[in-house]
Amino acid sequence: MKIRGISSGARALLGFVFVVGSAGAASAQSEPAALFNARCSSCHTFGKGDKVGPDLKGVATRRPRTWLLSWIRSSGKMVKAADPTAAVLYQKYRRQRMPDFELPAERIAALVDYLAAGGPETDAERQLRAASTATPEEVRLGQQLFEGRIALASGAVACVSCHTVSSRGALGGSLGPDLAGAFAKYRDRGLHQYLQRVCFPRGPGVNERKALTESESLALRAFLRISDPGKRVPAARAEGIPAARPAR
Ligand code: HEC
Ligand code: HEC
Repeated sequence: MKIRGISSGARALLGFVFVVGSAGAASAQSEPAALFNARCSSCHTFGKGDKVGPDLKGVATRRPRTWLLSWIRSSGKMVKAADPTAAVLYQKYRRQRMPDFELPAERIAALVDYLAAGGPETDAERQLRAASTATPEEVRLGQQLFEGRIALASGAVACVSCHTVSSRGALGGSLGPDLAGAFAKYRDRGLHQYLQRVCFPRGPGVNERKALTESESLALRAFLRISDPGKRVPAARAEGIPAARPAR
């Protein structure tokens, strides 16, 4: 298939290079993203829970913009000036103080805009590789991860202990729903989001941990995609993974 002159294979490869390369390549990032990585991410996550300082997801709605601009420039000054929010934060995160950042106002403003626009989370979504670009090996890895024949990097319990995929006749646990239709229901983005957190139990304290790695997410999405009862995927058959059975 040709899309704007580039074969789908080449596009898949480009997407792959972009995702893999993005971890280290500051040049591929926007200026605020690079700034966040270099100066903030050692103490803050975005959507993955508190680290040394608070999780910055939602901070742009939690605090007024002017407050954020002053805070990032000099949190020390605000604590000294007895700003009430600063005092609460200072009390709560006693073990470490946030350093001041003597950066030009435009760079701090751009950083705040970046956080308000979804920050690193939006970057990650933009770079998400589609399940349709998975190689047969990746599909097979997905099946192996699902069945627990290969362990998840997080050490989390294998999907099969709680889920079946009825379209494959896979035997599995019944605590969670049948996942035959999961790809059709959530698609790439929704599924990736869903798998960022352990399914069960969900609740305070459990949510942030045990996210799948990017490659595990891709492999599992790819496996669920070819297990969609409405789909027939030749690549999977070539790898000895039979096409999904039609839904009952
Ligand atoms: C050395 C660790 C450290 C670094 C680096 C750091 N922070 Fe912080 N940050 C903290 C701590 C700790 C707090 C909690 C308040 C305190 O104790 O100073 C905090 C609080 C915050 C808050 C307030 C959060 C809220 O819930 O209101 C914002 C916003 C923030 N930091 C943004 C940033 C940004 C943007 C950067 C990078 C330019 C950054 N921080 C770099 C440690 C750090
Ligand atoms: C300890 C049991 C358990 C394990 C292990 C588990 N899940 Fe789940 N999962 C559940 C439960 C329970 C639900 C239903 C949660 C709800 O409705 O809030 C669920 C829901 C889901 C859903 C949403 C289904 C729908 O139709 O809405 C998906 C997708 C999913 N799990 C995928 C996975 C994958 C992939 C793995 C392996 C990486 C996995 N789960 C591991 C228990 C588990």
